[in-house]
Amino acid sequence: MERDIARVVFDEQVIADRVSELGTEITGYYQGGDLLVIGLLKGSFIFLADLVRKIRRAHKVDFLVAASYGAGKVSPGTVRLLYDPNTELVGKHILLVEDIVDSGNTLNEVCRLIRRRNPKSLEACTLLHKRIALDLEIEPRFIGFDAPPVFLVGYGLDHAENFRHLPYVATLEE
Ligand code: IMP
Ligand code: MG
Repeated sequence: MERDIARVVFDEQVIADRVSELGTEITGYYQGGDLLVIGLLKGSFIFLADLVRKIRRAHKVDFLVAASYGAGKVSPGTVRLLYDPNTELVGKHILLVEDIVDSGNTLNEVCRLIRRRNPKSLEACTLLHKRIALDLEIEPRFIGFDAPPVFLVGYGLDHAENFRHLPYVATLEE
């Protein structure tokens, strides 16, 4: 195993199986209309790439870059938007794709921003949910796994930009 990794929490096969199921859930949920899947970068890039290939209906993909400050392991509660799609959202079903919901700050900020653009519907899909967020603007409708309330890396998740490439989700050594 990689240096600094303490324990694998969700391995490659477990993730692949669940992502496949999420794709099926999402496909069944959206019966008609235009669907735009928006991935929150950077953390969702691997999940998003795997997920959209399991959504068996027409859709478009865009990205939104929301960064929280610093390289720490605790969510600082400030969210900066670095890239914001200019795509028209009016009348479209929007599905936000997140890597992990921790404090919920990122999801809340992004939901407010998207709602102002009058989409037809707004839902969120997150690979991991720590279930510690209070006052979520929207509760993600599609959730990969409940995650332990500890710091996780891999499958897109980073610590100071490292470990994103790991094919599994794991905890770090102290
Ligand atoms: P929130 O705004 O506190 O919900 O956190 C959202 C963002 O913080 C996520 O999209 C991740 O990029 C990052 N984050 C939260 N928890 C973790 C973690 O356990 N490992 C790595 N990144 C995390
Ligand atoms: Mg991060």
